[in-house]
Amino acid sequence: MDQALKQKLKLWQETVRHDLTHPKFPAEPAYLFDPMRYALNAEGKMLRPVLCLAAAEAVGGKWQDAVQVSVALEIFHTFTLIHDDIMDGDELRRGFPTVHAAYDSDRALLSGDTLLIYVYQLLSDIDDLKFPQLFKAFNDGAMDVCKGQGWDMQFEQSKDVTPQQYELMIDLKTGALIKLACQMGAIIGGGNEPAIEALSRYGLLLGRAFQMQDDLLEVTSSTETMGKSLGSDVLNEKKTWIWLDLKKNLTPAEQREWKRIQDSHQLSAAHRDLVRSWMMEHGTLKRAENLVQGWISAADVLLNNTPLKNTSMLKALSDIILKRQN
Ligand code: IPE
Ligand code: IPE
Ligand code: MG
Ligand code: MG
Repeated sequence: MDQALKQKLKLWQETVRHDLTHPKFPAEPAYLFDPMRYALNAEGKMLRPVLCLAAAEAVGGKWQDAVQVSVALEIFHTFTLIHDDIMDGDELRRGFPTVHAAYDSDRALLSGDTLLIYVYQLLSDIDDLKFPQLFKAFNDGAMDVCKGQGWDMQFEQSKDVTPQQYELMIDLKTGALIKLACQMGAIIGGGNEPAIEALSRYGLLLGRAFQMQDDLLEVTSSTETMGKSLGSDVLNEKKTWIWLDLKKNLTPAEQREWKRIQDSHQLSAAHRDLVRSWMMEHGTLKRAENLVQGWISAADVLLNNTPLKNTSMLKALSDIILKRQN
């Protein structure tokens, strides 16, 4: 990424961060508003807001016009993470104890729900003729995210999830929000229908690649680097692509070893190392990396084939996703 682009990315992240850390909430009741502030103060990568601003610029709009929506999207994302961490039983997020671990589940549920309402307040402040289109896109995208989370949880109980079902699930739980960020940015930026459609498809492909990366990093990275709990995918029997692929390839002895680990309900560092080495030996990691690469390339081809004004930031962001380590 060249220096000018880096500077711009920093400015965008600081702009969004300022709004996240200066929300218009009162102080009381602290029972509600403290955990809300706590969640918004922990810094994430801010991928979705930045994509939203980049999409607005890509269609020839002003990024400043998309700031309010991009902040709303990041807060929606934060709400999903608060609830997700309760559901996945995770204790660390963005380098800090999860909201339910730092407070308790009652406060996490209430503050998560209220963040969602705050998102609607931010959206309803948008003074733009395109508001109805933006609002419909938001509601459809938000519904898809929840459907994806529903599939993710339901699949914990299923034995025979297919790679196609996995792809549908991640397209919903993660792809839908990344798609929405690009779509809403393109709408605010004044893009025409084909441009909005192309950027939506671009976002969906990026989101699919992003979630597969996330599933990979769950076994190849570390809690310190990721700033969040790792291991719950395996313990909760999440039907991730890498896990479905590995299961097909385990030897009978490895299957017995795996059953023993699962029955212990503990995933030690040594267990994770073992799972990772199986995934390397059986080619699972390589096949998954190839899929990620393919989706990112398809997203880039789509950008190149769409008449857009300025795609330099979008291209830099797909490259960041491809190479990400956290
Ligand atoms: C985490 O998203 C949830 C997934 C969809 C994998 P991010 O990895 O973008 O999380 P933050 O916002 O940087 O914390
Ligand atoms: C996150 O899914 C997606 C949503 C919150 C909708 P995961 O459960 O896979 O993400 P992490 O690993 O907790 O960040
Ligand atoms: Mg989770
Ligand atoms: Mg989850």
